[in-house]
Amino acid sequence: MFIDPQTTEPVNLYKLMIGSILPRPIAFVSTRGTDGVNNLAPFSFFTGVSANPPVIGFSPMVNLESRRRDSRVNAEARGEFCVNVVSEGFIKQMNETAVDVPPDVDEFELAGLTPIECDLIDAPRVAEARVAMECRLVQVVEISDKVLGGAFVMGEVLRFHVDDPLFDNFRIDPVGLDAVGRMAGNTYARTTDRFDLARPELPGKPRIER
Ligand SMILES: Cc1cc2nc3c(=O)[nH]c(=O)nc-3n(C[C@H](O)[C@H](O)[C@H](O)COP(=O)(O)O)c2cc1C
Repeated sequence: MFIDPQTTEPVNLYKLMIGSILPRPIAFVSTRGTDGVNNLAPFSFFTGVSANPPVIGFSPMVNLESRRRDSRVNAEARGEFCVNVVSEGFIKQMNETAVDVPPDVDEFELAGLTPIECDLIDAPRVAEARVAMECRLVQVVEISDKVLGGAFVMGEVLRFHVDDPLFDNFRIDPVGLDAVGRMAGNTYARTTDRFDLARPELPGKPRIER
């Protein structure tokens, strides 16, 4: 079968996307509003963009009441945000932050997670997260302000925080990190079932040591 977006409801396009682009890493985005209220929310439309400089990006969408995500509003207003990596140990708390509460509600308090101050930006990070990235806003690419429309929010990582036991010569221990991915609907994926596949090499070509 085939599906043409031009004749398909946006909510069904969204379902197609989350069922096809998976598993997705989750950016647990912490920000601070201009009113000083801490904000925390998960975003699985999330990716790395560049390593030189290190840039990452996530996509906040316009909700069904035509409201922009608080995370986007705060990231744009202050020009900074932090991305925390989600481990299974606090996945339930993460889920509790994913309710569309008004901007004056602090989702750290709502979910019982611990805010600690970032070093270089005016935002909290999640103490329970084993990896966090303090970011300065680079660019917001606006795609659509319609319901379920999105934007791509990119930030340069100014500082990485990694729990010491997880760090080995810049490699992160995936067992200790225990990162979780998002599938469609309420389904998540663990990163415990892994396998290796050596990449073919062309003699004489430079390569990144993996
Ligand atoms: C695992 C997970 C991933 C999510 N990914 C996204 C996403 O990529 N984009 C988005 O707009 N909303 C996403 N949401 C919904 C937002 O997290 C939710 O609407 C949240 O309340 C937004 O908070 P904010 O308004 O404080 O930014 C996701 C929810 C969950 C549970």
